[in-house]
Parts: sequence; C-alpha cells; structure tokens
Amino acid sequence: MNIYTIGFTKKSAEQFFTILKDNKISKICDVRLNNSNQLAGFSKGRDLKFFLSRIGNIEYSHELIFAPTKEILDKASSGNAQIKYGADVIHRIVYSTKKNGLKELKAAGIEVVEGVCRDEAEKLNEVFLKWIVHKMPFIVVKTAMTLDGKIATVSGDSKWITNEKSRKFVHQLRDLYDGILIGIGTVLADNPTLTTRLDHLGKNPVRIIVDSKARIPLDSIVITDKSAHTILAVTERASQEKIAALLQVGIEVIVTKEKADRLDLSALLKILAEKNICSILVEGGSRINYSFFVEHLVDKVHCFIAPKIIGGTDAASPVGGKGTFYMKDAYQLNDITTERFDEDILITGYVR
Ligand SMILES: NC(=O)c1ccc[n+]([C@@H]2O[C@H](COP(=O)([O-])OP(=O)(O)OC[C@H]3O[C@@H](n4cnc5c(N)ncnc54)[C@H](OP(=O)(O)O)[C@@H]3O)[C@@H](O)[C@H]2O)c1
Repeated sequence: MNIYTIGFTKKSAEQFFTILKDNKISKICDVRLNNSNQLAGFSKGRDLKFFLSRIGNIEYSHELIFAPTKEILDKASSGNAQIKYGADVIHRIVYSTKKNGLKELKAAGIEVVEGVCRDEAEKLNEVFLKWIVHKMPFIVVKTAMTLDGKIATVSGDSKWITNEKSRKFVHQLRDLYDGILIGIGTVLADNPTLTTRLDHLGKNPVRIIVDSKARIPLDSIVITDKSAHTILAVTERASQEKIAALLQVGIEVIVTKEKADRLDLSALLKILAEKNICSILVEGGSRINYSFFVEHLVDKVHCFIAPKIIGGTDAASPVGGKGTFYMKDAYQLNDITTERFDEDILITGYVR
C-alpha cells in the first residue's frame, strides 16, 4: 500500500475523496491531521475541489491519500514494524510536501519516498502554505482589461469589459478566497457589491476597503448591504466622527499605520492574517494594484483580456502608479497558463 500525504483539512479532504472516487481510485481512507492548528489555515475546503478541477487529470490513482496520525508516528517511534491503518499494513509512505515523522517511519522499517507530486501538492496548498509559513494572506490580483490595456473608459466606466462566462469565473474566485479587497477609488467609481453570485450557494468573501481618510459614503453598497462583512482599513487621518458612524452601522474599522504617505498594506495584511483571513482577491483599481506590486505582496495574477478597444490616453490600465523605469525591473510572471472564456482570454501566473 502506498500513501501520499498532502496535508489539508478534513473538510477539504472529503471533497478530494469524492473526486478521487469519481475517478475510480481503488483505495481511499480518511485523512487525519497531525496538527489541529492546520484547521484554521486552509481556506474553507472549497479550494481543493476547485484547484483539482482546474488541474484536470488527477494522477494520484491507485494510491492512498493520507497524513500520518500521531498514533501511527507513536507506533513507528516505538519500533513497531507492523504499522496498520485499519486492516492495511503500511509498507511505504510517499510524501509530497510534509516531512514530520520521517525519521520514526524509516526507523520502523517503512520505505519513505519524499517529494512526490510536490509541485501539485504545493499548488493545492498554496494558500495554506503562504499563511502558515509567512503569517500573511495569499494575495491574488485579478484584473480585466481591453485589448489596448485599459480597465475603464476615460469616464471611469468599466461595466462590462469581460463577457458573462469570464465574470462567472470571477464569482467562483470570490467563493474560493477569504477576502476581497479594493481601494476607495473603485468604491467611489463603481459602488460595487463585491458579493459572490453563483447558481449554487457560494460564500461571500469578507470585503476589505482601503480608505486612508474614511472617505467612503455611508450609503455605499458595501456599507448598507449586510450579506457580507465589511472591513474598512483607514489611517490616523480618518476622522473619529466618521469612524464612529461606521462602527454604528456594523462596519469593522482597522486603523493601520502609514508608510510613505500611504496606508501600509503590509501592516494591514499582517492584521488580516491574524484574523484568519488567509487569502485575498485584490480586484483593483490601478492605484491599489500598483501598491501591491511595488511592495512585493502579490502571489498570483489572473488577468482577463477582452477583445475590445476603447482608447484614451488617460484611461487607466490594470497597474498604475509611477511604474518601473526599465524593462529589466518588470514584475515577471511565471508558471503561466492561458484559458479561453469564449472570446476572452485569461492569463494566470505567479509572481515569484
Ligand atoms: N477592470 C477592472 O479590472 C477594474 C477593477 C477595479 C477598478 N476598476 C476601475 O478602476 C478605477 C478606480 O481606480 P483607482 O486607482 O482610482 O482606485 P483604487 O485603486 O481602487 O483606489 C485608490 C485609492 O485607494 C486609497 N489607498 C489607500 N492606501 C493605498 C495604497 N497603499 N496604495 C494605493 N491606494 C491606496 C487611496 O485613496 P486615499 O488616499 O484617500 O486612501 C487611493 O486613491 C475605476 O474607474 C474602476 O472602474 C477596474
């Protein structure tokens, strides 16, 4: 019997098993966690099904997916050569990313193979690994631009750049990640709802609005709509009266320090990570996107390109700010995939 250990939560594991069963995997057992703290880390279990469905062909067939329990490691360290899981005797354990317990397992005469499917496993766990190792949320920047690189017309109109299919995918992303973040510029321009709208019941991410001076109008949808929790991130520049008014209507306000005259995003993300917001979908606009790039806070990018041309020298592009001076300083995306959503193209990549 072979064992793969990937290290996700029980809930996500159950979904994973359903997929494995659908793919006629011969042997399946429960996954237990060595460390119950991990339960807080993985993004609500939905991620796995989504990632797997996007990875396509599962190559884990005929294997058992399993994380060694404390019980098994105890048996191994006591030198018990015959370690069982249910009725099965374990002879070989195949690790993807986790390494705890290797010594004990080897000492008990079990063959241990490390690093199998490591890339896939790390991708499955990208949110959790970022959060657990760096104590920061996994940051995904999603933008939608026209073929001439604009995210809105000169008048600020951006509804809609992409087609319905692309927008549905964005709602799947919202369902997947813990938080959704925009700058106050986007609230003022679009007055968005930032909720998940899918045919089946999706979960709403926590709405995070970055608004140094608390300029947000109290009748904005993200304030009045109670279907999702809203956090407003401000600095000391925000008036106490406005903060009181926001608290009064149930908005959570986080006062964050400043860095170079701007709200310090890195400090904000640390606070959000402590609140178990492990992943955040950044949906622009161009000023906030630039700050995320310039501060090296971005992990992953989803960029939609719609075959439309709107022109306008002053129309914004996905990433604004001062920009880089030389091409050599560009933020390079790696591990690129491209997908078609009818006529729209989605480019996904990692900033590493
Ligand atoms: N197609 C798309 O994908 C897409 C997505 C979103 C938005 N848009 C469009 O983008 C336009 C809005 O873009 P925008 O650039 O004005 O808005 P934004 O990036 O959403 O918000 C910018 C504002 O956020 C505040 N902020 C606080 N801390 C910041 C920091 N560290 N870095 C950057 N900003 C910080 C600043 O205001 P304070 O100094 O007052 O705090 C700043 O002016 C709209 O036309 C909208 O339709 C398009």
